[in-house]
Amino acid sequence: MRVIGLGGGLHDLAACLVEDGKLVRAIEQERLTRVRHACDHDKLTACFRAGSFRPWQLEQVTTGATPELGYCLNGDPITSVDAASHGARWGAIIWRTKEWPVLWTLRRLHKLKSHHLAHAASGFLVSPFEEALTLVVDSFGTEGPRNRFESTSLWLGRDRTLTPIRVDYSDRVPTDKTPRRWPDASTVCSLGVFYSDVTLSCGFRVLDAGKTMGLAPWGSARFLPELARFVHLADEGEVHIDPRYLLFLRECDRTRATLDDDVRFAHDADLAYAAQKLLEDAVLHLVRFGYERTRMRSLCLAGGVALNAVANARILEETPIERIFVQPAANDAGVAIGAAFHTYFERSKKPREFVMEHANLGRCYTEQEIAAALAGFRGRPELERPPRLCERAATLLAGGKIIAWFQGGSEFGPRALGNRSILADPRRKPTWERVNAIKKREWFRPFAPAVLAEAQSDYFELEANSPYMVLVGRVRKEKQPLLGAVTHVDGTARLQTVERRTNPRFHELISAFATLTGVPVLLNTSFNIQGPIVETPAEAVETFLRSELDALVLGDHLLVHPRFRDGGTRGIPDRLPDSRRPRSDS
Ligand SMILES: [Fe+2]
Repeated sequence: MRVIGLGGGLHDLAACLVEDGKLVRAIEQERLTRVRHACDHDKLTACFRAGSFRPWQLEQVTTGATPELGYCLNGDPITSVDAASHGARWGAIIWRTKEWPVLWTLRRLHKLKSHHLAHAASGFLVSPFEEALTLVVDSFGTEGPRNRFESTSLWLGRDRTLTPIRVDYSDRVPTDKTPRRWPDASTVCSLGVFYSDVTLSCGFRVLDAGKTMGLAPWGSARFLPELARFVHLADEGEVHIDPRYLLFLRECDRTRATLDDDVRFAHDADLAYAAQKLLEDAVLHLVRFGYERTRMRSLCLAGGVALNAVANARILEETPIERIFVQPAANDAGVAIGAAFHTYFERSKKPREFVMEHANLGRCYTEQEIAAALAGFRGRPELERPPRLCERAATLLAGGKIIAWFQGGSEFGPRALGNRSILADPRRKPTWERVNAIKKREWFRPFAPAVLAEAQSDYFELEANSPYMVLVGRVRKEKQPLLGAVTHVDGTARLQTVERRTNPRFHELISAFATLTGVPVLLNTSFNIQGPIVETPAEAVETFLRSELDALVLGDHLLVHPRFRDGGTRGIPDRLPDSRRPRSDS
């Protein structure tokens, strides 16, 4: 039985294929259209092509009831046409564009009744747990009674079923009384929206919550007492957000506009700190309530807020929860997985056997496709096919080079996990600044360490497995000098555990680096420069050539940047100009 799941809606459109109960392919549209958080329904066919889906062979297509509120992305207001239902909107657009594979697919379209159910299914039904508490926290889900929207929900997962423990709905905020933050929409008052609104007040875009999380450790508790007045943790696990926080943020916005750069950074960091702390406390409150009700010590998390690795780690530290599973595309893209598996089990009645152990679900490109991308370098000294590729790449890394690493199918979800990565030596602190400069990212944003599973406890205090970079762990004090480029300002790191079983070549590379340096860790960040993560070999080569990266490993091939034809002797600068450096009092 083959089932396609569709995820996303007004952002993060994605499709996945479940075949006989196994997740065999998943792709986000942004990788194909090269537009971040893409939601261009005209291009749905591209998802099918990239995933080698054959719509006429499908038994079922399910979409995850993504909410239909319009809001602003990339500065373009969504028009009222977009507020139509999924089926009608896609149907109309696709009919107009005559995308016949999609038309065929939509004949079988089925829509789950609840967006949060789809999120919960995306976590629990592919988790290793037979039963588990499942928590969903996002901005807003399906519209419920009295013009309210799903905002947080707790579920009890058992075998193939999910039973709601409680579903909380949030009110729309009357926009005549409070400032609008998301144009063309009445704001829904939820934890996810609260965090997004603070994200906007920190000067980021609405879907940049990860930047707020990375900024928070630079801040202080200056705004915490004031912002805490708007987040109430009530009995029975209730979290109430007072919409008047928007008035407070409006004041912050006015103040911020008058500040110069350094002071503004401190202002943003303090605001991020407060929001992060309040979000963490609210998530813990929800989990504790769920535990009291179910006594489950296994937890699945889903919804955009589940990507908050700091909150996730506090759950393990401060609640009775012992095991945690966060599906790597916990955001709306992952709804595709939940929709597909929910439908599969409903129709097939077969037992659960599949556990999601890796995220490498994109299409693998052929040797011919890789050769075509490298054709311009055939016969030139920059291009090699080293017999011991990992050793060669590890030597470059240990020598301070920063390399792009392209292997197999792309990762599903926002994190690069060793198939579409930029890698570097984690030991030297200036590498942090240099990689941020190469990627044109804000200087304060931290990088993640990828560590061999067998060495994790030697370097980090986190004991739990973290294959998808969704848990933060404290770097052991004595190891912090060895991990200067991946230790955040508060001594933590959002780490990735790498196992030989699930990514043998990446494991081999880190092992080779460990042999050379004694450190079984690499700095791992996504292979992109201010855009979606690269998908194809051609994009990899193009992105590499216009970058300051030193080398590209593409399958079995190594391409040294033409700047370094002599093998490269450029060192890493000791320090960047003062204007790029963090303030000293942070
Ligand atoms: Fe969602």
